[in-house]
Amino acid sequence: MYYPVFRPRRLRQNETFRRLVRETRLHLEDLIQPLFVVHGRGVRQELAAMPGCCHLSVDELAKEAKEVAALGIPGILLFGLPAAKDAVGSEAYADDGIIQQAIRAVKDTVSDLLVVTDVCLCEYTSHGHCGVVERGQVKNDPTLELLARTAVSHAEAGADIVAPSDMMDGRVAAIREALDEERFEEIPIMAYSAKYASAFYGPFREAAGSAPQFGDRRSYQMDPANGDEALREVGLDLEEGADIVMVKPALAYLDILWRVKQEFRGPVAAYNVSGEYAMLKAAGRLGWIDEERVLMEILTAIKRAGADLILTYSAKEAARLLENRR
Ligand code: PBG
Repeated sequence: MYYPVFRPRRLRQNETFRRLVRETRLHLEDLIQPLFVVHGRGVRQELAAMPGCCHLSVDELAKEAKEVAALGIPGILLFGLPAAKDAVGSEAYADDGIIQQAIRAVKDTVSDLLVVTDVCLCEYTSHGHCGVVERGQVKNDPTLELLARTAVSHAEAGADIVAPSDMMDGRVAAIREALDEERFEEIPIMAYSAKYASAFYGPFREAAGSAPQFGDRRSYQMDPANGDEALREVGLDLEEGADIVMVKPALAYLDILWRVKQEFRGPVAAYNVSGEYAMLKAAGRLGWIDEERVLMEILTAIKRAGADLILTYSAKEAARLLENRR
């Protein structure tokens, strides 16, 4: 009878062995919790397509930030819903805009929680596009100045990291220059570098009221069929001064994450987006999957593929599960 010399099952025989040789470990420190801020007071309204996530007014956001920090999660990513929208997304860079108020409130409450801000215009523009629209087209260069203003206003309010998600060409350089001019040379840029034109953003657009009112985002976000192009995008953002680069969405793009990490090494973020979250929640609610186990498997896989940090709506839940595992 033939016995193999090497038996992979030897090191799988119990959890103690498995722990000893485990290659990828998900940590609390890897996670960032995205949150949605709205005007008003006492608002904590659950989102229909994203159960467990809420629209939070600034006062409720401060409470939420405290809870996130108490769980040991290092940071939050803020998205805002403005009081009014216009063609140039004015509230995105207003001193008393929703995000600027939110940053101050969080920083006053929990100063060591990292506040990352999404820098984009789509939640603030009446047409719902991420850039300035002229004659039915999303214009690149006129958008850069508005994005730079937005990033500077976030920094002025106390943001720790700014994260441009618009996919305009040259925006990292424009934002870096504007931040440096205003003496914010210490503020890092986390660039949504390889951001795909994905249907997985559906629940987010409903939550943020940011669906484009005409056309789609395919003239600026990437074609899901392209991999090499992601490397070019990441390379450009790094040259322009990005400190952290991001791949988004995560799950259907693990190959991209892997390639980006192998090619560039530096810190890579992955965005486990709203549609990925919605699918997990829906199947969990129907009893079709073991939601907790699938969640941990997903996050571990994203990390194994190369992510140093993961933006996920499940951060709080994952943090609790990680705590219980100890
Ligand atoms: C804004 C932005 C979007 C997301 C993050 N920032 C939506 C979009 O590009 O339409 C998506 C996040 C998610 O789906 O969880 N540009």
